[in-house]
Amino acid sequence: MQKLLIKGKKELFGKINISGSKNATLPILAATILADKVTLMNIPLVKDIFTMIDLLKFIGLKINISKNKNRIEIVNSKNKIKTLAPYKLMKTMRAGVLVLGPLLAKNKKAKISLPGGCAIGTRPVNLHLFALKKLGAKIRIKNGYIFAEAKNGLKGTNITFPSISVGATENAVLAAFNAKGKTLLKNCAIEPEVKDLVKFLNTLGGNIKIIGRKILIIGCSKIKTNIKYEVIFDRIELGTYIIAAALIGKKILFNKIDPRIIKCEINILKKMGVNFKIQKSSIEVDKSNNIKKVNLMTKPYPGFPTDLQAQLMVLMTKAKGTSKIKESIFENRFMHVPELKRMGANIEIKDKIAFVKGPTKLTGAEVMATDLRASVSLVLAGLVADNRTIINRIYHLDRGYESLEKKLRHCKAKIKRI
Ligand code: UD1
Repeated sequence: MQKLLIKGKKELFGKINISGSKNATLPILAATILADKVTLMNIPLVKDIFTMIDLLKFIGLKINISKNKNRIEIVNSKNKIKTLAPYKLMKTMRAGVLVLGPLLAKNKKAKISLPGGCAIGTRPVNLHLFALKKLGAKIRIKNGYIFAEAKNGLKGTNITFPSISVGATENAVLAAFNAKGKTLLKNCAIEPEVKDLVKFLNTLGGNIKIIGRKILIIGCSKIKTNIKYEVIFDRIELGTYIIAAALIGKKILFNKIDPRIIKCEINILKKMGVNFKIQKSSIEVDKSNNIKKVNLMTKPYPGFPTDLQAQLMVLMTKAKGTSKIKESIFENRFMHVPELKRMGANIEIKDKIAFVKGPTKLTGAEVMATDLRASVSLVLAGLVADNRTIINRIYHLDRGYESLEKKLRHCKAKIKRI
């Protein structure tokens, strides 16, 4: 099994190119079930994307990947596509459930394996099913599968989500895209990735508007063909490398990004004393020698993302005093804590709050990755720690970070895969 070997304390310097967003690409790929011919650009070449591509191929779409251009062409010429998403393609990636909405919209029925378990929480799909039922689908669950049917097609309606879910919002938008009439979704997730999906669907001929936390969808009657679409940058990857720069960087530049999208993250990092030079489409970050403590809570966008909680915690170990971070999205997302403690961090968890006492010196150790973002927090800790850190189970990292070692090595980090 592959491991990452990091020799810490090497100052980072240079430029990091940010890839396309994994979490935007996944629903957009699911949306191509609704289209005829689409070219997607700025696709991150990470494991989760290849899993979704395998699922779409299984369903019957023709997919051509130009790896050197991060581009894929998808042709959906068959009138008859499969309406099944089997367990073997769903067990490793929960986002596979996003094909449910488009399959129902296109073929009026779908049989989808319930996604497999997840390390960070139970992650049910009840909100996805709630929205699809409101749109007129009949749904039953049997033998680990969701059986969904809408014999007369889906019909627009008003839906208020009882709580905010990114995936459920996306599935509902995908299902309502060409439903009859008007759909109004309330209490929606408005993450930049949801907005990117809406932008893609509008390029495809849709009529969808986001107004605050509401999304209004007028059923699309004519789908455009042969469209090209460039996926938004990965704000979580950007946030991760900004934290790396704050920990141990000496001027790291990020180009071709939109700083407005990560306003909350920038404000929190500024409060912690991180030095930024912000321009219209670039950010430069310098190491800060005087990190200050902060208290915060993860929240749906525009709040601080749960997907950056583990990484920020590493920076908190460098702050003077006790920082607090409350995880309000997932029930089991502190799995990096025992590993960070083995590297010398002083962290205590009470209920959903982590109390991080600093500043502490981190020292290299052999550690175990447990999920995507937890893994990358160990990479950040390894970069700033004394001596050598070995990270096991790095397949988690490969699910969501494109060319991680290459990007870091480009900035002079001592990191390699063994
Ligand atoms: C997406 C992101 C993930 C991110 C998360 C929260 C993708 C592919 N993944 O995941 O990286 O961490 O948003 O920003 O975009 N919930 C229910 N019932 C449901 C659906 C969700 O109770 O039917 C709960 C979840 O258990 C969780 C909360 O709602 O506690 C938010 O989850 P959700 O926003 O749906 O996350 P995902 O879309 O799975």
